[in-house]
Amino acid sequence: MVDTRTFLGSLELSNPVIPASGTFGFGLEMAEIYDLDILGSISIKGTTSEPRFGNPTPRIAECCGGLINSVGLQNPGIDAVISEELPALSKVFHKKVIANISGFSVDEYAHCCSLVDSVDQVGIIEVNVSCPNVHNGGMAFGTDPEAAAAVTRAVKAVTTKPVYIKLSPNVTDIVSIAKACEEAGADGLTLINTMLGMRIDIRRRRPVIANRMGGFSGRAIFPVALRMVYQVSHACSIPVIGCGGVASAADVIEMMMAGASAVQVGAENLRNPFACKEIVEALPVEMEKLGIESLRDIIGIVG
Ligand code: FUM
Repeated sequence: MVDTRTFLGSLELSNPVIPASGTFGFGLEMAEIYDLDILGSISIKGTTSEPRFGNPTPRIAECCGGLINSVGLQNPGIDAVISEELPALSKVFHKKVIANISGFSVDEYAHCCSLVDSVDQVGIIEVNVSCPNVHNGGMAFGTDPEAAAAVTRAVKAVTTKPVYIKLSPNVTDIVSIAKACEEAGADGLTLINTMLGMRIDIRRRRPVIANRMGGFSGRAIFPVALRMVYQVSHACSIPVIGCGGVASAADVIEMMMAGASAVQVGAENLRNPFACKEIVEALPVEMEKLGIESLRDIIGIVG
């Protein structure tokens, strides 16, 4: 009997598999197709202070090995998330959730995090400084070490919950940004968010996506995500959640060998709604095959 448990700081997960923010909504639709309690945790859709309708359509472009999205942080706003979405999720998922918080200013991040601080169901706050689909916010904070540190400090000042900063791959030196967040007090890091991409409709001679560009995710970005998880986890002392192109139990194991303490599954949920369930079920089988007794033994094993 293998041991799939893992820890994010003091938070114990029964297994490392977590649906990534934006690919699982607030969990309710997915609860209709399988028992969510098999998951390690769930990262809910990125939430802002006010409700957002999101970007104009089309927002999705299919690509080889993944897709580009430009959803634009569509969400019902932090008050509705706390009063409606999280209570509804608590009826179908009985573990701690990860609240993904987005913003357009340092004050907005801090405001949302201060409200989420009192919600017992939230085990981790994931601060999204890496959304590539909005102007004057999101990724703007995650591509500069000073700005990422400023958000981290502001959020840490208003909550006692563990704060994980979700980083962008659209940078030349992710380690410097990760270290700035760690020094500013982050309890952990999630990486990576999507890679900025674009497609052109050659018959119409215009971008496929109304917002022109969007975030590319899916299997094709797995090696980039793995490389960044490896670099950051070996340079920082706080836990890393690996994310980007994960689509199988073997990918989860590879991410953990690179240094991840837990793993998020994103675009694969959109291709196959049962992806997380299948990965959770396949994980012990894959561990047996590879002679892994406990997942905790392999975290960062590749030096
Ligand atoms: O556009 C979006 O809602 C995506 C958010 C993200 O990638 O963080």
